[in-house]
Amino acid sequence: MNILLMGPPGAGKGTQAEKIVEKYGIPHISTGDMFRAAMKDETELGLVAKSFIDKGELVPDEVTIGIVRERLAKPDCEKGFLLDGFPRTVAQAEALEEILSSLNKTIDFVINIKVDNSVLMGRLTGRRICKNCGATYHLVFNPPTKDGVCDRCEGELYQRADDNEETVENRLSVYTKQTQPLLDFYQEKGYLKELDGQKDINLVFEDIVKLVGGFHA
Ligand code: AP5
Ligand code: ZN
Repeated sequence: MNILLMGPPGAGKGTQAEKIVEKYGIPHISTGDMFRAAMKDETELGLVAKSFIDKGELVPDEVTIGIVRERLAKPDCEKGFLLDGFPRTVAQAEALEEILSSLNKTIDFVINIKVDNSVLMGRLTGRRICKNCGATYHLVFNPPTKDGVCDRCEGELYQRADDNEETVENRLSVYTKQTQPLLDFYQEKGYLKELDGQKDINLVFEDIVKLVGGFHA
């Protein structure tokens, strides 16, 4: 099962991706996570990515397309994959078509998680992430049992550097300008499925399972 998960910053892509990969056993490919891992290791890719991510701008297409091309060719993608946060520009979507066709793969679902702009700022500024296992929490909507500590692994929780108000403003406007047009691209191809992302986290996941549930491949 090959899925693209779309939606604005803070829509809940990472939150739902954790649940999808657990249930369906497919690898989670998040370009944001890949960039953050490279930033942590201070690699050349990490330094390039950081200069864009810190401003809330997109990392250039040629860099991003290259890492996705390599990742999708890995053997664990044979059984399917979940792409989260890619593609984000029309050029990336066109490159993805070419990459998939060279690997003899197709897209089964493009799931767009819809959330009103007015809700997204609060979701992002209240987000906290586990340093150790990457689990996502929210101070109000999905708090850990113990303040600042991960329920799963007792790791320390931190706030992403790009989750401050000013950078979030820019991320939202970059999304509107550069990524939203992709929804038409996938609508025209007949792949697009939209979900209400303002329901409770578990109800959004139930809707995803209903959508993909009947799929066997
Ligand atoms: P990326 O890491 O992809 O971030 P994003 O798209 O901005 O999305 P987020 O991770 O912020 O949000 P999410 O939708 O995963 O929400 P989450 O589940 O955490 O990208 C970061 C940067 O990397 C980009 O700005 C860019 O610079 C670069 N980049 C990445 N990919 C790129 C690409 N393809 N091309 C170029 N550059 C790229 O949820 C958010 C919060 O809400 C959490 O606290 C969560 O607990 C809470 N929440 C989730 N669901 C619900 C719900 N239903 N109800 C209440 N609260 C909820
Ligand atoms: Zn943890």
